[in-house]
Amino acid sequence: MNETLRSILSSRSVSSEDGIAHSLHSSISQEEGNFLQEIIRTARPQVSLEVGCAYGISSLFICEALREVNARKHIIIDPNQHSAWKGIGLANLRRAGYADLIDFHEALSYQYLSHLTEERATIDFAFIDGMHTFDYVLVDFFLVDKLLKPGGIVVLDDLLYPSIRSVCRYVLSNLRYTCVDPQSRELVPVIFLPASLPNPPDHPNYAALQKLEQDRIGEGHDATRHWTDHKPF
Ligand SMILES: C[S@@+](CC[C@H](N)C(=O)[O-])C[C@H]1O[C@@H](n2cnc3c(N)ncnc32)[C@H](O)[C@@H]1O
Repeated sequence: MNETLRSILSSRSVSSEDGIAHSLHSSISQEEGNFLQEIIRTARPQVSLEVGCAYGISSLFICEALREVNARKHIIIDPNQHSAWKGIGLANLRRAGYADLIDFHEALSYQYLSHLTEERATIDFAFIDGMHTFDYVLVDFFLVDKLLKPGGIVVLDDLLYPSIRSVCRYVLSNLRYTCVDPQSRELVPVIFLPASLPNPPDHPNYAALQKLEQDRIGEGHDATRHWTDHKPF
């Protein structure tokens, strides 16, 4: 594991460039980070995108795996990086040696994602962990969908939020996506289904990601807890 990330996870603290320490909060867990890395190692995206950087923990996990697969670029969008997060996410990414890989934008996701659609940019992978209300997440998903290449992957964080489960229900009912394992996780990997493919399991990413899920459940992940606590989607 990258030394910067290891030290943050063991101390549970981060520091700004002027050396002031802050306790770590709002970040994904190590388990989620490992899962994101497994998805990236499996799908080998060239260009990835992330909404919501905070102290940069998910970005550090993502960049570490992107390096291994020789990815070109990781686009990060967060309007509050220098206000709420004191620039610490970006500082961590620089300390970890990923300055050349990231393309950071201090902007609202719906504004910068719209700009990317105007530019006709394309991405292979997206992780959405920004504003967690239904409207924002749906708009993030809508715009990411416009950018995503066929066979691309979108991961939504915080599936415990009813707002995010509602987005998942909407996506799975109305858009050409399929979900690897809708019942068991806080993270939902959904795989883009190009119109030319009649059946999602035909896509090579589908089988590979399902195997990741099955391995995780086999390792003792509680596959039923979230299902029973919350309305399924
Ligand atoms: C839960 S935190 C992200 C945690 C981060 N992914 C990690 O694991 O370290 C949510 C982030 O979303 C950002 N955010 C809030 N509203 C946003 C918006 N409209 N567009 C993009 N990011 C937004 C916040 O500034 C915050 O950094």
